Amino acid sequence: MYTHAPESGTDYLILHGCHTTVVLEYRPHEAPLWRYWGPRLPEGCAPLAPLRDGRAFPPATMDVDQPLSIAPCFGGAWFGQSALLAHRAGQQFEQAFDQCRIEWAQPGRSLILHLEDTVAQLGLDIHLALDEHDVLRLHSSLHNRGVDVLDVQWLAAGTLVLPGHAQQVRSFFGQWANEFQVQHDPLSHDIWLRENRRGRTSHDTFPGAVVMLPGATEHAGTAFGAHLAWSGNHRQLIERLHDALFQWQLGEWLAPGEVRLEPGETLDTPVLVASCSTAGLNGLAANFHAAVRAALPWPGGTMRPRPIHINTWEAMYFDHRPDELRALAEAASEIGVERFVLDDGWFHGRHHDRAALGDWWPDEGKYPDGLLPLAQYVQSLGMEFGLWLEPEMVNPDSELFRTHPDWALQIEGRPLHTMRNQLVLDVSRGEVADYLFERIDALLNEIPIAYIKWDMNRDLAHAGDANARPAYRRFVQAVYALLDRVRASHPAVEIESCASGGGRIDMGILAHTHRVWTSDCNDALSRVGIQRGALQFIPPEIMGAHIGPAPAHTTGRSQNLDFRAAVALPGHLGIEMDVRHLDRTQRNALKCWLDLYKCWRERLHHGQVWLGELGDNVVWQAHGGTRDLIVFVYRTAPTTCRYTPPLRLPMLEHDLEYRIQRLDPPAPEWTSSPLNNTLLAAGRGETPPLQGHGAWLAEAGLPLPRMLAESCAIYRIEAMHSAS
Ligand code: GLA
Repeated sequence: MYTHAPESGTDYLILHGCHTTVVLEYRPHEAPLWRYWGPRLPEGCAPLAPLRDGRAFPPATMDVDQPLSIAPCFGGAWFGQSALLAHRAGQQFEQAFDQCRIEWAQPGRSLILHLEDTVAQLGLDIHLALDEHDVLRLHSSLHNRGVDVLDVQWLAAGTLVLPGHAQQVRSFFGQWANEFQVQHDPLSHDIWLRENRRGRTSHDTFPGAVVMLPGATEHAGTAFGAHLAWSGNHRQLIERLHDALFQWQLGEWLAPGEVRLEPGETLDTPVLVASCSTAGLNGLAANFHAAVRAALPWPGGTMRPRPIHINTWEAMYFDHRPDELRALAEAASEIGVERFVLDDGWFHGRHHDRAALGDWWPDEGKYPDGLLPLAQYVQSLGMEFGLWLEPEMVNPDSELFRTHPDWALQIEGRPLHTMRNQLVLDVSRGEVADYLFERIDALLNEIPIAYIKWDMNRDLAHAGDANARPAYRRFVQAVYALLDRVRASHPAVEIESCASGGGRIDMGILAHTHRVWTSDCNDALSRVGIQRGALQFIPPEIMGAHIGPAPAHTTGRSQNLDFRAAVALPGHLGIEMDVRHLDRTQRNALKCWLDLYKCWRERLHHGQVWLGELGDNVVWQAHGGTRDLIVFVYRTAPTTCRYTPPLRLPMLEHDLEYRIQRLDPPAPEWTSSPLNNTLLAAGRGETPPLQGHGAWLAEAGLPLPRMLAESCAIYRIEAMHSAS
């Protein structure tokens, strides 16, 4: 809380979560100093001495000791990265806060630091909150209190401290159809910097990272994570400081001239969502999942079981024929699909990706009676109807662009660079947002649409508005506002965030949407890695995961149906292939997988996710709680060992007895060993489940079968009673 150390006259601002603590050193005439962020300290535990009293003054240093504060500023005695870079027409280029007022919103949990720089004439409010899931949220509001414009080049949403023995940063890079690839960088005296200037969250650079202390693993040890809840440009950096700590800043990357604060104006940053866990990467993921779950705007307030999708894209592409679509819907409903999503290709003039974006009414040739008959037919089959839209975009070859060429973001004199033949609309203009809302509203009023797949298939370039000003930031805000406007008028509609697959996955968009399209890649082998990366920050129930065709359209590789289904099963399941063309055996097998998903989706989609690696090309993931788990064991490549090592499940409770059974719906022929045959028989209800001691399963492990490459074994492990 707010601890006073009388001997030094210093106050400490202390926030406690369940397992973590934040300590700042309060000073009335400067920004609070960072003292601690890490594993939980006991109540009343405070620093031994004020920071400056506790450290010897080094030679060849300014005669003022300037440690890391929560708002380090350029120009005084601070030579590290600044949380703020700003000036007024070249003057007042340096800042230093000389007043600090504390406002506790919730004692011990959340506060606002009101900082003032009376020389540079600006104020900065930093909001900090640490919740019961150990999620630390920070965001900042910069106020121009002067009489001149303040040009802002950089304002961190927040500045965090990391201990000096932090060793490694784990971040995500990627590209289309290959998102969430893990990169490990050692932390050193070099600055660690990742920036994104593509105007959307991007495939290239996920706006977040994880920092691990020595010895941290998936299951144990201290790991820190931070994420910027924002769907546009971003910047994250980690810098080693002279006192051997690291500072970690995240914020919006601003284009030159993008933020010019008029007197009296305020700049609000996106929210920095951070967490620390002593339970390794999986503990950190659990905290982030809690943060996302708390913000998801479910219709009616709670998530209903995630319905199985069929998406028409890889089955039909642009070739929409209502009779074929009806046949696809019939085949899908027969095997148990619950939501039919009509993807790209349905609207006026959309026969390929070179035209029509912007003209959001049904193509008269393909749908002479509009979409209503198809939607009603889908409903009559017991499925919901969903529709693909890409509202923010326009093709030069469209009626919209021919009528309003000025609505596209552009810079006079520069070429209109396209990407996938399309331009970006300036959604921040009132008339553009109104047009898009009216079109979407009309569709939602006329057709029983339960779901929108909201796509966004290009980067922002030459993103100038009508006043020749950079529009990146206002574009993202306007998209959020448009989403909210649609949701306010149609509160029952769910929305998916898609951007060429996973190009717009972040906690900013997830405050306005309900699912992400994780990747356009439906190759199950690629998906194993992509989904494991995504699960570090997002929970499985919103992670779109489809059973695609073989060969996969984006890689050309083929995997068998069971593996494709087993990889998609833990996420929000869908199918993205033409199920009409499956033979009877395949159709029956697919139906078994959909039944299995329906049976277990509530267990898969609530609770925690643990990821683990067994080595020898085997990875696993467990969903649920320590007393009731569904475990997926994936072999991604052939074994290099004669015997597969046992699977240790460290989360199981040592003093409990567990029931174990295999859940795989079609018993795989490759399954060997009497034990696994027993587990499979138990899964089919033919024999009672096997019993095992929690301590044994946690420490010695569950014997695994010898598995073929690209196969999966699925277990249910459920506590019975205390083993003692
Ligand atoms: C993007 C999406 C795909 C599909 C196509 C349609 O690439 O990621 O899933 O919707 O657009 O054009």
